[in-house]
Amino acid sequence: MAGKFISYSRDDTRELAGKLADKVRKGDIVALFGELGAGKTCFVQGFAKAFGITEIVNSPSFAIVNVYKGKMPVYHMDFYRIDNPDEIRAIGCEDYFYGDGICLIEWAEKAENIIPPDRKEIHIKIISEKKREISIKGFDF
Ligand SMILES: Nc1ncnc2c1ncn2[C@@H]1O[C@H](COP(=O)(O)OP(=O)(O)OP(=O)(O)O)[C@@H](O)[C@H]1O
Ligand SMILES: [Mg+2]
Repeated sequence: MAGKFISYSRDDTRELAGKLADKVRKGDIVALFGELGAGKTCFVQGFAKAFGITEIVNSPSFAIVNVYKGKMPVYHMDFYRIDNPDEIRAIGCEDYFYGDGICLIEWAEKAENIIPPDRKEIHIKIISEKKREISIKGFDF
């Protein structure tokens, strides 16, 4: 199912992410789209909190993927620095895509074709300094 939401703050974005965290199942992939500073990491933070993850969640800029232990493993990826989708294969991300946890992928547009098509999507658009339009696809909401 698809839907559009307006967020007026970080907390709004986190809250929406928390609600969506209740809707995922083992093996789900959540691809996050949106420009720099849209709120992708903020979304992942809200999601992780709802998943019982107490670690600090930041973008895995150097590692490309961070693994968190929650209700299920959460694989937080950030493809911002990826130039070629082959790099993603080399890192072994495909094991995560087809693994037992939940994948949350920032900068999914960098690897559209290697992220399995059976995925959920979050598109965050910056409307103004604090206003975001968040479109969701594939969630039973
Ligand atoms: N409604 C909102 N939702 C989320 N973040 C917001 C909102 N309004 C303002 N912000 C600000 O926008 C920024 C979002 O940062 P965040 O790191 O989550 O973006 P990002 O999409 O992960 O960027 P990057 O592409 O660099 O990884 C934060 O500074 C946050 O305070
Ligand atoms: Mg980020």
